[in-house]
Amino acid sequence: MSTLPLDSPSTRQKITTRSYRLKKQRGVPITMLTAYDHPTALALDQAGIDSILVGDSLGMVVLGYENTLPVTMEDMLHHCRAVARGAQYALLIGDMPFMSYQADVPDAVRNAGRFLQEAGMDAVKLEGGRERVEAIRAIVGAGIPVMGHLGLTPQSVNQFGGFRAQGRTAAAARGLLEDALLLEEAGCFSIVLESVPERLAELVSQRLEIPTIGIGAGAGCDGQVLVTHDMLGLFDRFTPRFVKHYANLHEEMERAFSAYKADVKSRAFPAEEHTFSISDEEWQAFLAKLD
Ligand code: KIV
Repeated sequence: MSTLPLDSPSTRQKITTRSYRLKKQRGVPITMLTAYDHPTALALDQAGIDSILVGDSLGMVVLGYENTLPVTMEDMLHHCRAVARGAQYALLIGDMPFMSYQADVPDAVRNAGRFLQEAGMDAVKLEGGRERVEAIRAIVGAGIPVMGHLGLTPQSVNQFGGFRAQGRTAAAARGLLEDALLLEEAGCFSIVLESVPERLAELVSQRLEIPTIGIGAGAGCDGQVLVTHDMLGLFDRFTPRFVKHYANLHEEMERAFSAYKADVKSRAFPAEEHTFSISDEEWQAFLAKLD
């Protein structure tokens, strides 16, 4: 096993599912953020973020849907391709959209394969516990790494009756721990824990050999993920309580758009430095030939 520090910029290598496991073993927190486009993928990769999730959250933060249910395979593959063209080092994970893996196991394997074959992803993520074990085994059996997702699984929003924290009764906490162990046994390389009590997420993380990635699950997870549009303050419709704002880009965009509007109206833009010129000689020649 290499003894090189996993986060050292001088030894930077592509992050793999194996690096994920090594980071957990060495107690190095894993970083993950979402991206849906090329410039964001470039910036995340340059910042040294370990993994990029092309989440179906794009349905809400990019496409303007109420929830993630309308997102299609074609939507996901389109955005995954843009991200894959931007990121060289991060582990790239494509989120399987609603109904791309729930109905039929062979279909789940084929759809998972498209993320790797057509869209440059390294792995896929899918939501659910014991009811997904058969599909996960089959996808992993096809050589495709799978990240699980437990707790608040947004594709089940209608079953939950809204976006609510999960695992808050003794029975629900036990069910979640059992599901996590089943997903590990089925071959998942990692599991996202979303909106679950901190104590439960910490215990699950201790019981699993594979790393957990928390979102609204406290500091006891092996890594953390946020939706990039939320942490940048780009999506102002609704912010979950677990989000920390690292910027307020929505406000910054509004400020820039208003300044542009004012400049155009007052003719302050474009200024001389934004325009091209033609020599007097060429101009006179041009005018001389005008009808
Ligand atoms: O779709 C997504 O962005 C996700 C994260 C919230 C984990 O599933």
